[in-house]
Amino acid sequence: MLVLGIETSCDETAAALVEDTADANRPWLLRSNIVASQVEIHREWGGVVPELASRQHVRDICGVVEGALATAGATWGEVGALAVTQGPGLIGSLLVGVSFAKAASWALEKPLVAVNHLAGHIESIWLEHGNIPLPAVVLVVSGGHTSLYLVERPGEYALLGRTRDDAAGEAFDKVAKLLGLGYPGGPIVDRLAQTGDDGAIRWPGTRLTNPDRNAPDRDGRFDFSFSGLKTAVLRHVRGRQAALGSAQLPEAEVADLAASFQRRVVDTLLDRAFAAAAFHHARSIGIAGGVSANSRLRRDAARAAGRRGVPVFIPSLALSTDNAAMIAAAGIRLLAAGRIAPADLNAAANLPL
Ligand code: KG4
Ligand code: ZN
Repeated sequence: MLVLGIETSCDETAAALVEDTADANRPWLLRSNIVASQVEIHREWGGVVPELASRQHVRDICGVVEGALATAGATWGEVGALAVTQGPGLIGSLLVGVSFAKAASWALEKPLVAVNHLAGHIESIWLEHGNIPLPAVVLVVSGGHTSLYLVERPGEYALLGRTRDDAAGEAFDKVAKLLGLGYPGGPIVDRLAQTGDDGAIRWPGTRLTNPDRNAPDRDGRFDFSFSGLKTAVLRHVRGRQAALGSAQLPEAEVADLAASFQRRVVDTLLDRAFAAAAFHHARSIGIAGGVSANSRLRRDAARAAGRRGVPVFIPSLALSTDNAAMIAAAGIRLLAAGRIAPADLNAAANLPL
């Protein structure tokens, strides 16, 4: 059966067709994966402008869905079910996808399932690699989230830890902005870091041992915090700008800053993921979300996997950043469980996983 996935939670309008093969070992076949990025629209403003994002989704959605059908060589009549991102995300953006999917589901008389965006990121690992050894610890690391989950059975996610303040991607974006590097920051810092010295500055690390004030019942030892690092970079940069009497730091120094900052973020992410994996006797680690596109994270994760004897699975670049194929993949799990969305489905900006 062909499942049409639709994703409009932030600044990417995406549609994809994923085939449910009913094969237990490799249940999914990616047939098409179309993404219309709004980066050029938001770049001018230094970040995503929600109202511009939702308006652009309205303009792009029909063409993107038609593109997904055409690329897969499929017709509307062959779509067996639909899966849409319900949340979390920008409410105006989410509404475009949810409204489109509900209308299409009604017109086609095919079932619709509502997918949590984070579940989509997690399932991108299964979509790419098939069944990975369980239990698995999965790190979802994106612009809005940095969370660790324990997956003991496919499709079931237990929260182990999360960031108490900034997400890792957000830290990349904020540090890039601070360094005057533009938007989105992650890929720019990644590129620049390749020419810098990652040992130039020893940034402070954060290891949380205290419980989260906002969730006192939860074991907080696998939580993250990136706001202290961001502030340390800010203070350092302001100090250097004052010392040099110029807002523009030398190119080599900016590269060193990028490399050492990136190293600190990657070390923290991998440290926590491997600690959680050891604690829960995980047989594998998965890493997904936009920041999993980071070249250093990918390289260091592969090295750590070899050293520690726990395999790490990361989706290909196209499935790391926001896309609708992962939404269709997560949707196939919901369809199998019979969790069809009600006709009055609404978008939910803060949908928890
Ligand atoms: O998953 P995603 O596409 O959207 C959200 O769900 O947030 O993640 C976007 C985030 C942004 O913060 C972006 O800067 C970051 O992922 N990102 C990267 C890289 N590519 C994207 N961060 C570090 N290195 C990269 N290569
Ligand atoms: Zn995402």
